[in-house]
Amino acid sequence: MAETPKTATLTIGDQSYELPIHSPTAGPDVIDIRKLYAQAGVFTYDPGFTSTASTDSTITFIDGDKGELLHRGYPIDQLAAKSHYLEVCFLLLYGYLPKADELEKFENTITRHTMIHEQMHNFFRGFRRDAHPMAVMVGAVGAMAAFYHDSTDINDPRQREIASHRLIAKVPTIAAMAYKYSIGQPFVYPRNDLDYAANFLHMCFAVPAEEYVVDPILARAMDRIFTLHADHEQNASTSTVRLASSSGANPFACIAAGIACLWGPAHGGANQACLEMLKEIGTPDRIPEYIARAKDKNDPFRLMGFGHRVYKNFDPRATVMKQSADEVLDLMGVENNPILATAKELETAALADPYFAEKKLFPNVDFYSGIILEAMGFPTSMFTPIFALSRTVGWVSQWQEQLADPQLKIGRPRQLYLGETTRDYVDIENR
Ligand code: SDX
Repeated sequence: MAETPKTATLTIGDQSYELPIHSPTAGPDVIDIRKLYAQAGVFTYDPGFTSTASTDSTITFIDGDKGELLHRGYPIDQLAAKSHYLEVCFLLLYGYLPKADELEKFENTITRHTMIHEQMHNFFRGFRRDAHPMAVMVGAVGAMAAFYHDSTDINDPRQREIASHRLIAKVPTIAAMAYKYSIGQPFVYPRNDLDYAANFLHMCFAVPAEEYVVDPILARAMDRIFTLHADHEQNASTSTVRLASSSGANPFACIAAGIACLWGPAHGGANQACLEMLKEIGTPDRIPEYIARAKDKNDPFRLMGFGHRVYKNFDPRATVMKQSADEVLDLMGVENNPILATAKELETAALADPYFAEKKLFPNVDFYSGIILEAMGFPTSMFTPIFALSRTVGWVSQWQEQLADPQLKIGRPRQLYLGETTRDYVDIENR
């Protein structure tokens, strides 16, 4: 392979500018434009950041063409098969796979941070019962800054670590409470004798009137869903967390901002939108109508759960999720689930259609997750909160990485201004 040149030459008119090129351990080279405006008096222009690296990072790498996802170098399919969510949390936070004693200490720490301040129960009671759980999560996670003052000093590494542990531990409790509140059932306290995924299922589905025993197959599927959503480079919500953090905002405010961004149907809200789309399609005979709509430039409809900014091949998470879907549906005795049948037919039809092949639109992580979550008994409104609790470790890991960067500057993009140039005010009687 030809040696990468160390600089790129930009020529504007009769001026040339040398811009440094940095080579990664994996992925494309980058052209360093940090001094471009000072040297050439011009900005670059890249709405949506389709060709722009906002940071360097060592946490997660995606090869969109190959459909590969690495967390600290470990492929997601191996982590989903051999690891479990809290071990992946340790890996993302600290950069290496823990030894047995380190993992046990970490899991004990997280387990013992799962309760939330009792006063927060009152905070929940201010919401309407029919509030979307994501609205509750944005509010409650942001409100953690009002309850956990002793871990908001971002300049203290120990406080940053405690805040990270508190967020990983408490966001599932808040998500489960949002669910219970929406269905008028009492909150269920965390149980330290259950593992992370089983505890979440117990907090969601247990009632005081009888014992609730978590099915280990469901707990394993839940843990795998958490793992598959843990981190994903500089996606929209992670970039939101980084931008909020660049101003020095406290960790709870930054994660609340990430939750707000994730809510959108183009991002983490796609799992809810995908299941609602599959239900609207209803039966496989209506699939051609919806594929035609997705291809129609004049129709804003898109196939939810398809396409990705980076993956131009199968999303490796979707592949693992599809296997889990079959397991969970078999267990729940709904292997003949009409929605799953429609999903599989839709996937086959879309992948056979030249439009999707040419635009490299493949199923993404959200395509199958909703089917599993519905089979587990969750309403569609809980799909994105589950994505948010899974991604909390990714957000805090990237937040930690950014705060440890000595070159950290406040994020402040420039613009291509197309508005009015200077003009004088006109008094109302003269307009
Ligand atoms: C997540 O970034 C991440 O890493 C996100 C995520 C994570 O883990 O954090 O992976 C999680 O958000 C997954 C994506 C979930 N969203 C959806 O499933 C919603 C449906 N997908 C699309 O909205 C879209 O594919 C995006 C938003 C995911 C990606 O959009 P891009 O990269 O901006 O691509 P684009 O909109 O420019 O589309 C390129 C072309 C367009 O056609 P042309 O204008 O070139 O003719 O593909 C078309 C689009 O119209 N297209 C689709 C489509 N997605 C893109 N057409 C029909 N159905 C779709 N789903």
